[in-house]
Formats: sequence, structure tokens, C-alpha cells
Amino acid sequence: MKTIKLETLMHVYEGREELPHDLFELLIEAEKAALKAYSPYSHFQVGAAILLNNGKIVTGSNQENAVYPCGLCAERTAAFAASSAYPEVPFSKIAVTAINPTEKLKEPVSPCGSCRQVLFEYEQKFCQPLEVILAGQEGSIYHFQSVAHLLPYTFHAGFLPK
Ligand code: THU
Repeated sequence: MKTIKLETLMHVYEGREELPHDLFELLIEAEKAALKAYSPYSHFQVGAAILLNNGKIVTGSNQENAVYPCGLCAERTAAFAASSAYPEVPFSKIAVTAINPTEKLKEPVSPCGSCRQVLFEYEQKFCQPLEVILAGQEGSIYHFQSVAHLLPYTFHAGFLPK
């Protein structure tokens, strides 16, 4: 028996003013997208902005439904929109942020497992790391160089029958 330690690498920026210009701009787009959330049930507004290799930015927000599981997170809304509009263009970066209307988010929003899985697949598809920028409404901002750092030991298409 042996024990393996998995490590995650992330950069932490102390605030928005520390961000490189391109990441700051992408985060602004994610913030604007959050304002377009349809979240009458949770009242939690999430926005995601994906920068593609062709320079286009595609955004998404969480979309809820009275049948709760029918709703979709901002990250997947953005990823599916980007892949539908530009199926052959790799994703370069994704910024995600959220608005909690009752209490300001002081730490970065954390994507759910399903969103991590979906983003990982696009990263694999294009054989290009997808950088992830996570922010709250104030405080630190996390920057991951790859979705793989957010989802180690991932299920992938290689497990499926040939
Ligand atoms: N949500 C997202 O859109 N992204 C996340 O990273 C976390 C959660 C949404 C789903 C639901 O509409 C609301 O936030 C509360 O869970």
C-alpha cells in the first residue's frame, strides 16, 4: 500500500486592483453577467465569462426553474453557449463571480462539481489549459492555471468503452 498526496496550485490576488489587466477585464464581464441571473428561488446571482482563443468573450448566468434540478449554473450556461457558438475554438480563461444580496461575499465563489467536470472536458477537448479566475464581491481572488487543479482524479472519456 502507498499513499499519494495530491496537490493543488493556485495564485491568490489580494484584490481586484492586483489583477493583470486581461483578468480584470474578464472579471468585469462576469460581474455584468451575474446581474442577468434568473434566480428567483435562491436569489444568488452568479456570472461567468469565458475568453476564447479568437478573442471573443461569451458570458452566462445561473438560470433557475420551479423544478429546481432543471436550473443550470452560470459556468455551464457560459460553457455550453461558447461551445455552441464556436465549437472549434478553445477556451482560454473563465472568470466566475457571484452576488449574495443578503451578505456580501467575502471569499471567491466555488464552482460545483458538475461545472468543474464540464469545464474539464472542454480543457481536454482542446488540449489547452483553461485558466480559472474565482472572485467574491470583495476580498481575495483565486487564479488556477488549469481546471485540472480544481478537479483532480477526474472521470474522463478514456474510461468509456471504445
Ligand atoms: N450556482 C452557480 O451558478 N454557480 C456556482 O458556482 C455555484 C452555484 C448557482 C446555482 C443556483 O442557481 C444558485 O447558484 C444557488 O446554488
